[in-house]
Amino acid sequence: MHLFDNLKKAFSKEPYDAQQAQAMAHLYSWGPMVFQVSRLMIRYGILDMLNAHREGLTQAEIARATGLSDYAVKCLLEASLTLHIVLIDPEKDRYRLAKTGWFLLRDTMIRADIDFNHDVNYKGMFVLDQALEEGKPAGLKHFGDWPTIYEGLSSLPEQVQKSWFGFDHYYSDHSFDEALEIICANKTRHLLDVGGNTGRFAMRCVAYNPTLEVTICDLPQQIGLMREATQGKEGAERIHGVGMNILDEQNAFPTNKHYDVIWMSQFLDCFSEQQIVSILRRAAAILDDTNRIYIMETLWDRQDYEPAALSLTMTSLYFTALANGNSKMYNTDDMTRLIHEAGLEIESIYDRIGNGGHSIIVCKR
Ligand SMILES: C[S@@+](CC[C@H](N)C(=O)[O-])C[C@H]1O[C@@H](n2cnc3c(N)ncnc32)[C@H](O)[C@@H]1O
Repeated sequence: MHLFDNLKKAFSKEPYDAQQAQAMAHLYSWGPMVFQVSRLMIRYGILDMLNAHREGLTQAEIARATGLSDYAVKCLLEASLTLHIVLIDPEKDRYRLAKTGWFLLRDTMIRADIDFNHDVNYKGMFVLDQALEEGKPAGLKHFGDWPTIYEGLSSLPEQVQKSWFGFDHYYSDHSFDEALEIICANKTRHLLDVGGNTGRFAMRCVAYNPTLEVTICDLPQQIGLMREATQGKEGAERIHGVGMNILDEQNAFPTNKHYDVIWMSQFLDCFSEQQIVSILRRAAAILDDTNRIYIMETLWDRQDYEPAALSLTMTSLYFTALANGNSKMYNTDDMTRLIHEAGLEIESIYDRIGNGGHSIIVCKR
């Protein structure tokens, strides 16, 4: 397996002594409570309050400020203490913010993940085993009766949509500016954004280059959301939409224009291996010697930090239980094999795009 050097080191030898390993196993076994306590310490503003009062606060002061009962605050604080989210000064009975609590409070990536996990994933994860066994998103059922989450996205409850888009946007938005430098380096006139969603990348494209035309190809429901989101904005007249289900093999890629760039950002991870090959074959069919497919993905084995690899392998389980039951965050070996199976060649790979661990794989015919 291809792994960045740091991950090779981290994952090929035992990181814990026996006591640490046992402590980690305990932590995993209480996962749902650990998650909910972390989330609620943010939601009730307790971490915020502790951050503002470096001298610490008593349980009674926190109860008063939150309006929660003494019982509720005591349960949350004692659990947080054993999770090292807060510290206590036992002489004065005052609670202070610990480093882990600070990261829960301030790390914007962690916040996007918490919202996504609570609103989108939490209930569905209960049937992860069923999803793994059937290859179907068994956890999606409580939201609606769609074959995949994508058909249902525009009708999910408002808070669920907010967290889904928050998560999706968080990860790709930070990479868009650097990505633009790479894909628009040559004279790009027409760009095809496959899975362009609500048009956020397209908006950046038309702002970046005053003559660039962007065509977004996505499910018809998403094209509707995109039109709403871009309406009246500068450059929106250069953003076009093609509503189509890419999984229907009868649907060819548009040939109404010569697309210099075929852009797929966080798109292929929404599909199974077989589906990816089918999509890439159809994309390859509109390539000539001058244009390229640019695939932007967070490949979990190309991460500089262990927590990033962890977030990505966990995100795979969202795909299993909620999204479609058959896709994942891929690794380099798998993605390379699929690209080759589709008859494409990898011309180059750019790593460490944006502040996250995105890679852009440039493919040619
Ligand atoms: C994870 S989002 C990525 C959005 C955007 N490219 C980004 O980087 O933030 C995946 C996109 O693929 C679209 N998609 C999923 N299944 C599709 C299908 N069968 N046909 C067309 N688009 C699809 C979704 O609607 C969504 O907009």
